[in-house]
Amino acid sequence: MHRSVIFIVFLSILVSTLLIQACKQQNNKRKVKRPPAKEKPADLGTVAALPVSYKSPGYNPTTEEKIELGRLLFFDPILSGNKDVACATCHHPEFGYAEILELPIGVNGTGFGSKRQFRHPNDIPFSKRNAPAIVNTVFNGIDEGGNYIPEQAPMFWDVRVKSLEVQSLQPIKQLEEMRGRQIGEDEILPVIVKRLKAIPEYRRLFKAAFNEEESITEMNMAKALASFERSLVANNSRFDEYMRGNTSALTQSEKEGMQLFIESGCALCHNGPMLSDFKPHVLGAPENEEKLGFLDSGFNNTFAYRTPTLRNLRYTAPYMHSGKLKTLDQVLTFYEDLNGKPLPNINVKREQVDTLALKIKVEFKNIPRIIEFLNTLNDEKYDRRIPTAVPSGLSVGGNIK
Ligand code: HEC
Ligand code: HEC
Repeated sequence: MHRSVIFIVFLSILVSTLLIQACKQQNNKRKVKRPPAKEKPADLGTVAALPVSYKSPGYNPTTEEKIELGRLLFFDPILSGNKDVACATCHHPEFGYAEILELPIGVNGTGFGSKRQFRHPNDIPFSKRNAPAIVNTVFNGIDEGGNYIPEQAPMFWDVRVKSLEVQSLQPIKQLEEMRGRQIGEDEILPVIVKRLKAIPEYRRLFKAAFNEEESITEMNMAKALASFERSLVANNSRFDEYMRGNTSALTQSEKEGMQLFIESGCALCHNGPMLSDFKPHVLGAPENEEKLGFLDSGFNNTFAYRTPTLRNLRYTAPYMHSGKLKTLDQVLTFYEDLNGKPLPNINVKREQVDTLALKIKVEFKNIPRIIEFLNTLNDEKYDRRIPTAVPSGLSVGGNIK
């Protein structure tokens, strides 16, 4: 009798200890299973700082002579058919080397900034799309790991051209951007080369930059323009400082904005050091058919456009390929509405929208902080020097007075 009581007491102590032990383990397991609070899900993309220096293609090493020649060419309207449009007309330093108009006015235009207009209506159309910034285009194509190949750098909203060298001759051939009606597409480049050869200062500058038997060629013009564009770098935003290790470069609120940017799905496409995957995506953003007079259908007629960089947005409004969204608030509202509201581009069906875009979840209350984060990507310390005169003696920057 006595013994069995002791045994039962012993047994119950054993059982309760085992139970407590089991409960503890259960608790521990639950703790281990819960993810750490701040861990970022891997498939939402990552953002990174820009490199501190840049690369050029092997066949066109950057030199000071090429940069300065390229700068003069960039601001000289001698490159246009009617000698009235320069690259800088649509890519002016004052607007972050982008364009303040929804769609740029090249040939047949007069005036500067928002005051620019056509001299004779209905003669030459608007340019097809909003002009992107030239600043940092040296990094076009850079991936999340910071790798890029200058010869392969994707150019234009529909990635139809690769490298700054190849890109730089395109606007000269384009009817509404620089060529005009007088000179044909096949004749324009030889005409420009001939004009440059007739100007002693260009003869001297090309010789100094290239030192070839015949230094003034289409190819060398392209190389000089590309070298100048490469030199337009803005890689020291507060965001870059933060990503390079200065934890106090961003405020608490901006850091939260960055977290919200990633959690909302923005970095699925806006990733890496340029905040762009450089791939075309269908979003269904508004078109500009009324200004254009026809429908722009984007990359391969799919209404896809290349993800733009999100750097220096403060200087490059308006936004999207159509220039139809005037503020960052409007862009963020567009993304919020993507979740359910009818698309602003009536030509795009919901089934066509990029699967990554359908993952975007922007909450109205988070918009201000996401915009705060976007503003940390501005770096105004890019080269804005405008030559006081160009070798042709024409109006610097084209007909923009
Ligand atoms: C009439 C306005 C206009 C002029 C003049 C002009 N551009 Fe552009 N530029 C644009 C537009 C519009 C685009 C976008 C076109 C597209 O994507 O289809 C563009 C795109 C670019 C791009 C591509 C940037 C990127 O990230 O994809 C570069 C580089 C560029 N231009 C350089 C130049 C150079 C160099 C000149 C002079 C030789 C020049 N542009 C003259 C309007 C202009
Ligand atoms: C599916 C890929 C994708 C995702 C996800 C995405 N974007 Fe975009 N973003 C684009 C593309 C493509 C454009 C250009 C669309 C056009 O012009 O029609 C663009 C344009 C923009 C622009 C205009 C930039 C300019 O210079 O015109 C801003 C700002 C922007 N996105 C911010 C964001 C933010 C913030 C988020 C998250 C809420 C986001 N994006 C999510 C692909 C994406």
